[in-house]
Parts: sequence; C-alpha cells; structure tokens
Amino acid sequence: MAYSQAEVVAGGLAHIPVLIVAFWLFNSFVARKSSAKGTSTASPTRLNIPSKESTDSAVSSTKKSSTQSVPVNLYKPRSPFLGTVLENYSLLKDGAIGRVNHITFDLSGGDPKLQYVEGQSIGIIPAGEDANGKPHKLRLYSIASTRHGDNFSGNTVSLCVRQLQYEKDGQTIDGVCSTYLCDISPGEQVKITGPVGKEMLLPEDEGSNIIMLATGTGIAPMRAYLRRMFEPTEIEKNRWNFKGKAWLFMGAPKTANLLYDSDFEWYKSLSPENFRYTKAISREQKNSKGGRMYIQDRVLEHADELFALIENPKTHIYLCGLKGMEPGIDEAMTTAATAKNINWSELRPQLKKAGRWHVETY
Ligand code: FAD
Ligand code: A2P
Repeated sequence: MAYSQAEVVAGGLAHIPVLIVAFWLFNSFVARKSSAKGTSTASPTRLNIPSKESTDSAVSSTKKSSTQSVPVNLYKPRSPFLGTVLENYSLLKDGAIGRVNHITFDLSGGDPKLQYVEGQSIGIIPAGEDANGKPHKLRLYSIASTRHGDNFSGNTVSLCVRQLQYEKDGQTIDGVCSTYLCDISPGEQVKITGPVGKEMLLPEDEGSNIIMLATGTGIAPMRAYLRRMFEPTEIEKNRWNFKGKAWLFMGAPKTANLLYDSDFEWYKSLSPENFRYTKAISREQKNSKGGRMYIQDRVLEHADELFALIENPKTHIYLCGLKGMEPGIDEAMTTAATAKNINWSELRPQLKKAGRWHVETY
C-alpha cells in the first residue's frame, strides 16, 4: 500500500503522544531503579561512602576486589575530626577490678562524613603534650558500635576503654590516653582519626558462623558484631538477616568485670539457636589443673564442637584483646586439633589465607 507525503507526515504526528508516554514511562522506571540503589540501608554490606571529590585521597585504599566498601583514613592526625562526647559511663559492677568505660562521640557535621564499618578502629589524640613538649601521638581503639551507632542515627561512634594503670618505682602510673578518655565529660571535644583496619571485618554471608574469643576490652568489636546480628532495632536498619551460629568466649577477671553481659544474655534469650555465650572468669573459676580459668581452657572444654564448626568453610574465628592470650589460644587449638588428627600449625595459616582467622591483639 502506498501513502502520500501528507499522510506520512500526519501519521508521524499522530504517534507523538504515544512516544511522549513511552519516554515518560521509561524515565520513571530508570529513576525508581537509581533511587533504590541509593538507599544504603537496603544493602546490608554496602556503605554510602562520601562523594568522590571530598574523599578522593582519603578512601584511596577502599577495598576494590570486594563488594564491601570499607572507608579508611578519612581523617588523618594532621587534620583530625573533632568529635563531641555524648556519654561516658562505667561498664563495671561493684567489686570489679580497675576502670572500663563506654564512651560515645557525636560524629555529625564532618566533611567528609566520618563513617566506619563493624570491626574497624579509630585513633584518638589525647589533649596536651608529651614530656618533650610535643603533641601526643594517637592511640587506636576498636570501635564498639555498629555503623548505625548506639542510637541508630548513623552519626555516632562508641568505644570501650580500660584505663591503663601500672606500678613503677613505687608509683602508680596512669596511661595518658586511656585516662584522658575515662575522665572525659559529655560536651568535651576529642580529636579523632581514621577509621582504620580491615582485619576484623565481618563476612557478608548471612549464613556464616562466627566464633569470637575476647579478653577484657577485646570485646569491643564483638559487641558491634553481636549488635549487628541480634539487636532488633539494628537489624531493622541493616537488614542483615544473620542465620549462622555465633559463639562468644569472653574472658574477665571477675563477674563484676564482664562487659555488656546483660545485653549478651538478652541476645541469647532472643536467639538461643544462633547465639552461644561462654564465660571464663579467671579469678572466680578454676581450670581443670586448678589454675585461673582462661578462655583457652574453655576452648579445650568445647574442642569437639569448635572443630566441627571450623571444618565448615563458612566459619570465621575472631581473636581480640590481650596480646598475651595468643600463645595460650594457639596451644589450646594445637591440643584440640591433635585429638582430631589435625595439624593446627598447618591449618591456622590456611584459615588465615582463606580470610577466616582474624586477630587483633594489643
Ligand atoms: P600510655 O601512656 O601510652 O602507656 C603505655 C606505655 O606504658 C606502654 O607502651 C609501656 O611503655 C608502658 N607500660 C604499660 N604497661 C606497663 C607495665 N605494666 N609496666 C611498665 N610499663 C608499662 N585499648 C582499650 O582500652 N580498648 C580498646 O578497644 C583498644 N583497642 C585497641 C585496638 C588496637 C588495634 C590497638 C593497637 C590498641 C588498642 N587498645 C585498646 C590499646 C590502646 O591503643 C592504648 O594502647 C591503651 O589505651 C594505653 O594507652 P595509654 O595512652 O593510656 O597508655
Ligand atoms: P587475670 O587477670 O585474672 O590473669 P581485663 O582486661 O578486664 O583485666 O580482662 C582480661 C582477662 O584476660 C582477665 O580475666 C585475665 O586474667 C585474662 N588473661 C590474662 N592473661 C591471659 C592469657 N595469657 N590468656 C588468656 N587470658 C588471659
């Protein structure tokens, strides 16, 4: 069939409304898609990193191979972020040994925004000068909050700090930064650097098993993991539907020194199938040899179940706290492994290489 030129033009004009509607439909589809992508909380392990322009050099070491973006060194010692103390309270009960505080800082207003993920640390530069009249060097502290913060606003970071005290020449010496932090009051401003660290990150797989071995303030990153897994409001925010087994071994000198104990007991009551909590109270309980009960003694008691879990490639092990616990844990793992005909000195580097053995001791 042939058409005149006028008919062709008229026919073309008649299609314009159809084209406009099609174009509008396509546009709104694309807009919906991109706005869904921009909602960072919809994706549990992705973090909204500040704009490239504002953080170009700062996030240069952001992990490229993984789908998980990890912010690193957004604030450096020469230009730290000034965080305001929101709260600072003791985590210990009557009769406890020493001083351990939970301290929360407001991070709002930064450019770039100071963001972090569970398992990272921040640096604190204490006020004042050292004996040589130079500004104090930064000290690192493991972050004890999830990326959403204790109040879920996404604008705070919390630490769990033990005041260092030791005796020298008959005098009690107070650690500079830990004393500064334990004494600080709400409203004061603190120089913060970081975040740093990729050793203690959680796996993305919701079906992972997480074994945690903590002494003292080594509980800090574990508290963040456990909040991410079991704290109901946090789960609403992160939408990370943890389905694996979490097992915390916690070492403290006395019951009164157990940190975040009531929170962990609550998580256990909420998710008894997914969370196990084993305590080693060194100065109240005895190990099988009559000595102080340490977490490595608990590891030995549960060796079979632990190694059954470790055989599962989805199992990760995290160690955090006293440097001195490493040889003890190693010895316990060697004994436990040998009983199962496994060579621990071969297995441990394999677990490390597979990114399943995570250690941060100090
Ligand atoms: P300083 O004034 O720096 O004194 C420490 C120095 O005192 C030591 O270097 C040593 O020279 C000396 N000293 C210490 N003990 C003795 C002793 N018994 N006898 C003689 N000399 C001694 N700490 C926490 O509380 N919570 C955390 O979550 C945490 N996370 C950390 C994460 C990482 C990755 C690292 C590396 C460390 C972490 N720390 C944590 C430790 C923290 O960084 C500080 O080292 C600690 O708070 C002590 O700092 P300070 O300024 O109080 O002590
Ligand atoms: P203890 O001090 O009784 O010897 P905190 O930091 O609150 O003091 O807690 C640390 C816990 O770790 C304490 O129970 C402490 O026991 C324990 N601990 C000390 N040394 C080791 C070690 N080498 N291995 C495992 N746990 C240890």
